[in-house]
Amino acid sequence: MAEVIEPLTSLKGRDFLSNLDLSPAEYRAVLDTAHAMKRGAYRGLRPLEGQTLAMIFEKPSLRTRTTFEVAMNQLGGHAVNLTNAEIGLGTREPVRDIALNLERWVEGIMARVYLHSTLEELARYSSKPVINGLSDLLHPVQLLADYQTIEETFPDTKGIRVAYIGDGNNMANAHIQCAVLSGVKLTIATPRGYEPNAIIYMEALKLGADITLTHDPLEAAKGAQVLYTDVWVSMGQEAEASQRRKIKDFTGFQVTPAMLDLIDPDGIFLHCLPAHYGEEVVEEATLHKKSRVFDQAENRLHAQKALLYHLLS
Ligand code: CP
Ligand code: NVA
Repeated sequence: MAEVIEPLTSLKGRDFLSNLDLSPAEYRAVLDTAHAMKRGAYRGLRPLEGQTLAMIFEKPSLRTRTTFEVAMNQLGGHAVNLTNAEIGLGTREPVRDIALNLERWVEGIMARVYLHSTLEELARYSSKPVINGLSDLLHPVQLLADYQTIEETFPDTKGIRVAYIGDGNNMANAHIQCAVLSGVKLTIATPRGYEPNAIIYMEALKLGADITLTHDPLEAAKGAQVLYTDVWVSMGQEAEASQRRKIKDFTGFQVTPAMLDLIDPDGIFLHCLPAHYGEEVVEEATLHKKSRVFDQAENRLHAQKALLYHLLS
């Protein structure tokens, strides 16, 4: 008989635009459910029978697209994929009208967008839950899988050292918000001029997070239990004239086996993927014995099943 978890009533029907949309207790419940899903909870059962998730993509995706669709299928529902070429968010018709249409047909909307404000607008007009599948500001569903993966090696994350090295982008911002919930000691090392969002950082400090910003990647990596990196050129920035300069600015920030030697002997390396090999990371780091990047990719499925289960049940 498959393990069954009671859905958290406080999460039913809620939006998930940022990790801080969850209280610490809700964050714990979602992660506990993610671990349970990986153990096989609900296997063969169909808690989301008849439910549909609309998935909107303004940008490409492998992991988010596949794992949300598989998650809905495994929970007994299904997903409809809508590319921006088809629906034209804000061009073919206003974001408001798209929300007001979709809410009549589906039980939830997951959207990957350029502007975070597009998600806020979808959420404002849709009476059904809106889930952030990545925006220019945050990537909160990724962080659920990341912390599931971290807890597989370090079950109690309180006080462990997480070093994020690279661009102060949507991933760095999401790490800052998760430091509030996880209790880790987070160090973010970026080149000068590439620091994370100052408002998100200040809010996290006010909420008691332990975060250090630095420009020294090696100092950040030394002794860390978790080393994390992400691309230097995010989706949507490819055509920027500054790309060449940007890559030059990141000299010394590349994750290599030598950098992995500096972290805790039991430490792990994570990357949300896709990797731009030869830029922020070399292949030898992804394939290194400390690397957990493919477990992390697997956990996107389990963590999102947990999230969908609590928001839609
Ligand atoms: N990490 C991540 O979100 O991957 P995709 O861009 O392939 O969805
Ligand atoms: N910072 C990256 C994350 C990809 C999952 C981007 O926005 O392209």
